[in-house]
Amino acid sequence: MLSILNSFCLKGLQGIPVKVEIDINNGLPGYDIVGLVGTAIKESKERVRSAIKNSMFQYPIVKITVNLAPANVKKEGPLYDLAIALGILSATGQVNLDNAKDYIILGELSLNGEVRKVNGVLPILISALEHNFKKVIIPYDNKNEASFIEGLDIYPVKNLKEAVAFINGELNIEKVLLNSFEELKQNKTYSYDFKYVKGQKMAKRALEIAAAGGHNLLMVGPPGSGKTMLAKCFPSILPDLTFDEALEITKIHSIAGVLDVNEGIITNRPFRSPHHTTTTVALTGGGRDAKPGEISLAHNGVLFLDELPEYSRHTIETLRQPLEDGVITVSRVENSVEYPANFTLIASMNPCPCGNFGSRDKECKCTPANIQKYLSKLSGPLMDRIDMHLEVDSVKYMDLKNEKLEEDSLTIKKRVDKARKIQLERFKNTSIFSNSKMTDNMVKKYCKLTETGDMMLQSAFENLNLSARAYNRILKVARTIADLENSEDILDEHIIEAISYRSLDKKYWN
Ligand SMILES: Nc1ncnc2c1ncn2[C@@H]1O[C@H](COP(=O)(O)OP(=O)(O)OP(=O)(O)O)[C@@H](O)[C@H]1O
Ligand SMILES: [Mg+2]
Repeated sequence: MLSILNSFCLKGLQGIPVKVEIDINNGLPGYDIVGLVGTAIKESKERVRSAIKNSMFQYPIVKITVNLAPANVKKEGPLYDLAIALGILSATGQVNLDNAKDYIILGELSLNGEVRKVNGVLPILISALEHNFKKVIIPYDNKNEASFIEGLDIYPVKNLKEAVAFINGELNIEKVLLNSFEELKQNKTYSYDFKYVKGQKMAKRALEIAAAGGHNLLMVGPPGSGKTMLAKCFPSILPDLTFDEALEITKIHSIAGVLDVNEGIITNRPFRSPHHTTTTVALTGGGRDAKPGEISLAHNGVLFLDELPEYSRHTIETLRQPLEDGVITVSRVENSVEYPANFTLIASMNPCPCGNFGSRDKECKCTPANIQKYLSKLSGPLMDRIDMHLEVDSVKYMDLKNEKLEEDSLTIKKRVDKARKIQLERFKNTSIFSNSKMTDNMVKKYCKLTETGDMMLQSAFENLNLSARAYNRILKVARTIADLENSEDILDEHIIEAISYRSLDKKYWN
């Protein structure tokens, strides 16, 4: 006897419908599972059997064959357990699947029959909508992330018994109620605030621009000058997420299995700060399950690399392609998937091993060769992709002594939000949200300079030995500076300030 149930698998962020076919016949007792499946699915045999027995159902002593179709797509993870168990119970007449023909069924089983949380529910449900499915059974612990999807009847179940009773029409389960993203967004708090950072006006201004336009930024300065502190305050001034941005982020976090049970949808821009001992795979994604890495978890948010030269050169260099394209392709033997990786890179470093090279008042003890070796850990092409280079000097004693609190993050964030709103309006019918992601054509259209502005940029281009990429990036930063002042045109002072954030190239790297 054959039972067929609907489920889904994921290729990157895209869900693909899967038919779970369970055939039961009276051959020699056994359990086979086919259809290009990963280890976790092969191991479902033991979980399903124990879950059925421990839920006081009868496990048939027959030959069971499970097929997950289509067979040409790799399927991973334990999310088919519940569907398989229901298929087996149906073949022995313990559940009536006629009532569940148009349901999608997702869930891992524990040995005692609990339905466990699975990864990737949000992207699966969004794809299910696109494939015109209307009803879904999901694990109870996934219900928060499912509560932002309109147009689906979503039934959360806690265990196998409950799922069977629900399908048999013996138990009523409340549908997941729709949650409001706007309401949830109000309850944000941050642990760091710019009001405690004394002085450092220049650095704060640069970070405000970076936040407003999503520009990559590198801070160079001596030890203890507050680079790490400034970066930690950065999330508190990032612009509000739009619902679409939040969905994109939550999908990735759902697939990676790092979504908090209570969280549902992510309302804060991610701030990821992997340690410098991190591996390339952890940063870019991959491994056995082709999981998203740190750069994808930082999508629509910030990737903070503190002490940049301490990361392995190879690891840093892998950032070049995603910094340009905003996506990363993760490849492995049977599977190659693409994940979004549109992050803002904030990096910090000392200018030399002792940290004092270029300082106004401290003496550098490093030899030129040592300095050169240290700086050369960052290649020219990588530096070229960083829109803003910022020199952070030690905080002045008078500033540090000042008891008065500085401007707080909320006030800065309000300016950032205003500037971001202008950008959202500008890019309304496109797939981008900020100036930093403008294509070359958009730069031509939105970043027109005055005649003198153009001459200044030309002179900077020649004197600072800039590349075509740097030229475009300066224009994008200038666009953001103009937006912060609500100026339709890019004025000369805007382009001058944007150019000033590229002067370190020459000081340290030429
Ligand atoms: N502008 C400032 N206002 C208030 N406190 C500051 C400021 N700058 C630095 N500090 C204090 O100094 C400490 C060290 O700063 P931080 O760790 O950010 O320096 P850093 O530039 O990252 O140094 P390193 O290069 O050694 O990593 C902070 O934890 C903070 O207490
Ligand atoms: Mg530091």
